[in-house]
Amino acid sequence: MKYRNFGNTGLKVSALGFGCMRLPVVDGDSGKIDEPLATAMLRNAIDQGLNYVDTAWTYHSEQSEPFVGRVLQDGYREKVNLATKMPSWLVKSHEDLERLFKTQLERLQTDHIDFYLLHALNAGYWDNYLKVRVFDWAERKLAEGQIRHLGFSFHDRYEVFNKILNGYDNWDFCQLQYNYMDVDEQAGKRGVLEAAEKGLGVIVMEPLRGGKLAVQDPPAQVAEAFSQSQRDWTMAEWALQWLWDQPEVSLLLSGMSTMEQVEQNLQSASRSGVGNLSEDDHATVSRVQQAWSGLAPVACTNCEYCMPCPNGVQIPRIFKLYNESVMYDRQRRGQNAYQNEFKDDQRADMCVECGQCEELCPQSIQIIQQLKDAHAYLTGEPA
Ligand SMILES: NC(=O)c1ccc[n+]([C@@H]2O[C@H](COP(=O)([O-])OP(=O)(O)OC[C@H]3O[C@@H](n4cnc5c(N)ncnc54)[C@H](OP(=O)(O)O)[C@@H]3O)[C@@H](O)[C@H]2O)c1
Repeated sequence: MKYRNFGNTGLKVSALGFGCMRLPVVDGDSGKIDEPLATAMLRNAIDQGLNYVDTAWTYHSEQSEPFVGRVLQDGYREKVNLATKMPSWLVKSHEDLERLFKTQLERLQTDHIDFYLLHALNAGYWDNYLKVRVFDWAERKLAEGQIRHLGFSFHDRYEVFNKILNGYDNWDFCQLQYNYMDVDEQAGKRGVLEAAEKGLGVIVMEPLRGGKLAVQDPPAQVAEAFSQSQRDWTMAEWALQWLWDQPEVSLLLSGMSTMEQVEQNLQSASRSGVGNLSEDDHATVSRVQQAWSGLAPVACTNCEYCMPCPNGVQIPRIFKLYNESVMYDRQRRGQNAYQNEFKDDQRADMCVECGQCEELCPQSIQIIQQLKDAHAYLTGEPA
């Protein structure tokens, strides 16, 4: 295992951390962790030097924390940095903070959390945390030693990230969605660089975009882009090594769901290092990025010049979902997201073809027609 500096904390963490959100399950039921297999996977990784384990209140229908508490018996707790997160959506008052945290200590069978995160921060959760005086509470826990390091995970726009990063002086670390296809998404590369510059440890989550960057049967264009390289890396290894190459990244969390993935990612971690990628390798990643992007049906750059739509259609959000569902061949998930994450009056079929958006679009996208196509794809109804 390779170890890396963790921001200004003086700690060394393993290049690979274990994300306990995608453990193997029984009967396809996320709440039923396959405990014998998952225990063997986690302990095997720790035996090989992995020293960072990430869980959260909500993972596996609230079964991940209690499971991790059991796995870390028999001397394993002392071998790892344990991370869990305050479930931001359950915090309604200052008192909730202590109540939820105590439950987590019980579930995890421990008297302290090494890395404690405010979970999935966005603009709304941030405002709420300030209202309930989260830092008064967290600083008490830090002083008492029940929390050793305080950080946050994040899912929102870069501007919100910047506000949160600079909105509190004593963050030790942050956890960001980052991979070679998300360089400009959410906090993005800009956020990674700024956090590292401020001395925070930077934990990367979704390094394989939840598995999409490591599919068994990639689109021909993507396979072709990889095939021009001399490296015999798997798609997963390419994505992981691209991240480990960057000095600002402290560790990668991978949510591994089989023993084979654990072994592969441990081996990748043992080969990892800052500056390992050659010019040729960077050229390969650029080709692969272009190959994936070339699969997107709409050339939308999310500039939002088209907004607001006078009829309330969420044009860039719809195109983003449409593009990603097509690129990564996830039509069913795209349809679910379209159903669950958009209100009826935000969907593409609210378009009245006024054409205002097309006049404003710098990419000259035929928005009216593309909205029809997106709606058809995301509902399964004919265009
Ligand atoms: N705080 C937050 O808001 C938040 C949000 C997301 C994630 N997280 C944390 O970050 C962790 C990492 O994110 P993630 O689970 O999305 O990571 P990821 O590495 O992007 O995706 C994990 C998936 O990638 C596939 N995979 C992993 N290793 C592979 C390999 N060697 N070869 C082929 N496929 C491989 C598996 O997919 P299959 O199961 O399909 O094979 C696995 O389930 C999570 O587990 C969780 O702990 C936190």
